[in-house]
Amino acid sequence: MEFRIAVLKGDGIGPEIVAEAMKALDTVGEKFGHTFTYEEAPIGGAAIDAVGECLPERTVDICQGSDSVLLGAVGGPKWDSQPPSNRPEKALLGIRKELGLFANIRPARLWEPLADACPLKPERLKDGLDLVVVRELTSDVYFGDKSRDADGRSHDDMTYSPEEVERIARRAFEMARQRRNHVTSVDKANVLETSRLWRETVARVAEGYPDVELDYLYVDNAAMQLVLNPGQFDVILTGNLFGDILSDEASCITGSIGMLPSASLSLSSRGMYEPIHGSAPDIAGKNLANPIATVLSAAMMLRYSLNLPQEADAIEGAVNRVLEAGFRTADIAKPGDEYMTCSDMGQAICSEIRNG
Ligand code: IPM
Ligand code: MG
Repeated sequence: MEFRIAVLKGDGIGPEIVAEAMKALDTVGEKFGHTFTYEEAPIGGAAIDAVGECLPERTVDICQGSDSVLLGAVGGPKWDSQPPSNRPEKALLGIRKELGLFANIRPARLWEPLADACPLKPERLKDGLDLVVVRELTSDVYFGDKSRDADGRSHDDMTYSPEEVERIARRAFEMARQRRNHVTSVDKANVLETSRLWRETVARVAEGYPDVELDYLYVDNAAMQLVLNPGQFDVILTGNLFGDILSDEASCITGSIGMLPSASLSLSSRGMYEPIHGSAPDIAGKNLANPIATVLSAAMMLRYSLNLPQEADAIEGAVNRVLEAGFRTADIAKPGDEYMTCSDMGQAICSEIRNG
């Protein structure tokens, strides 16, 4: 089969990590007989430098003409003085909205070979750690009206419609059916009206999934439970802002934010795939980044958008074997231990894909 992939490398370490994910895709292609053709387009700071705007129309067009989108990361101090409407992060929000990517899937699991990179005491992990954050991605306070009054008082409008809650809730219940049949809906319904709507709507959707266990947590408690006993979670269903925060928390429990992939899905099969970490300007251009989150994002693309689950397994299996063999980038190496470069890690994963 032939697939057209839009490639948005972005800023900082973006180009380095995306290059390794493309190599992994090509290696899978050779092995299973697929061709991936890539069309690159600028986004974020790179786009500001090239054409003056963070999300050029041509970039959106290229994404819309693709089977799926692979993204690195955006942002960096160089563009901090841009007006809010042209910040690199704005491009990320813009492309999510333009492509209708309302469902952000962020799996966090403990990789056995990295168990000692986990900052929690071993007894906190007796029930393991294998959860997915299903985060709503195109609404909430991220996309509400923003304003500042003459006296400086500032506003960010937090909004949700029943339809927006319903479609993300369905995604979460469907996901739970593929996993351990358990959804935890996270909100702040003791304070926020949007959260009360969230809860009512999730309860209604749940009636269609009697086989899935549902419970609710307030977000402050959820943040605490995540570090006390992360093994109690299967699917965490939550809004845009809470999901942003909880997914960073979940990622660091796994040992490194450099390990976590994500998928952003729409109603069509086209999705956008990116690591959950940022552009890490401090290590950009040094061949030091961990490409694994991006490589695993490419695996999610194979699974969720291109319907190639065996090929996705091939990448994930290769990553596991590379870790088992003791290969480490700087972020997951023990202090004082040797570590490898970003491109060497990419290469190690590719040879494992070939041999697997
Ligand atoms: C993420 C990031 C983005 C977000 C930023 C860069 C706008 O933190 O993807 O989690 O808040 O969604
Ligand atoms: Mg975030």
